[in-house]
Amino acid sequence: MRILGIESSCDETAAAVVHDGTEILSSEVASQVEIHARYGGVVPEVASRQHLLAIIPVIRQAMDKALTTWHDLDGIAVTHGPGLAGSLLVGVSTAKAIALARKLPLTGVNHLEAHIYANWLGETRPEFPLLCLIVSGGHSDLVLMRGHGDYTLLGRTRDDAAGEAFDKAARILGLDYPGGPAIDRAAQLGKPCIDLPRAWLAGSHDFSFSGIKTALYRMVEDGRIPNVNDAAASFQEAVIEVLTTKTIAAAREHRVKQVLLSGGVAANRRLRSRLTRESPMPVLIPEPALCTDNAAMVAACGFFHFQRGCTDSLDMDVMPGLKIA
Ligand code: KG4
Ligand code: ZN
Repeated sequence: MRILGIESSCDETAAAVVHDGTEILSSEVASQVEIHARYGGVVPEVASRQHLLAIIPVIRQAMDKALTTWHDLDGIAVTHGPGLAGSLLVGVSTAKAIALARKLPLTGVNHLEAHIYANWLGETRPEFPLLCLIVSGGHSDLVLMRGHGDYTLLGRTRDDAAGEAFDKAARILGLDYPGGPAIDRAAQLGKPCIDLPRAWLAGSHDFSFSGIKTALYRMVEDGRIPNVNDAAASFQEAVIEVLTTKTIAAAREHRVKQVLLSGGVAANRRLRSRLTRESPMPVLIPEPALCTDNAAMVAACGFFHFQRGCTDSLDMDVMPGLKIA
């Protein structure tokens, strides 16, 4: 099956063609990062306008690079939530128009579910039951997966998402936007020598990162941060220690076969190496370009929807607050 995936939930317009949910034939991403960098964050109205400008050229490029014509496609998968309503609407309307014009089956994909399925695009196949840590700009979710489409939410953030915490910490430290990659880079030049609090929330698989961020803010305000790189390394280490330790504890408790990492923060070098080193179970992590938003993961997820007979009608709507479980 050849699936066209479309993604427009936040600030990347993306399209991809994927074969049998595992083989990428093309994956194109038009990023709006430079436009939003001026404002220090994503401006929803600007994002939806940019999606409108980019969506058709990006789909054309993905189809051309995959040497695919409309006749070669077997289905369309599109992110229908969670995300910014105006942004989601651009992808969903385009997907519906193509499905209608080409009489192709359509499936709406949860963006978080798609992040998990980025792991089906690598060399090693995921095996159930597995535990997935999804760490993105809007979510920090620990999800137990017993089969395709079978999700149990074990834990989530009670305040800031991991990516949001990275972005806010970078702003506090005067680093570039987006903050996650900037902290990752700065941390490579520093040492984690500053003591910052960790919120363990004992007895729960939930996370909390606002305390670490506030402690960092107070230190900067009081002039107690002599070296920005050390501060970035210390912040990163505090967040990653909590993510790694709590993920491994949940994986042990539920006796899973594998641990999967996904979402934009999964591109973080320290998180990738520490989780891989400390986990007693094998750890699967998509290559960095497939951790951040892309449409190959949407097409991969869509393939498994179609395999189970999950399709949507042209009445499908955007669901900005969609949950995974
Ligand atoms: O999954 P994603 O691309 O978009 C959402 O679905 O939110 O995740 C974006 C988040 C941002 O907060 C960004 O700062 C963070 O992922 N991120 C990183 C890194 N690359 C992206 N955080 C830490 N280290 C990185 N290398
Ligand atoms: Zn995402």
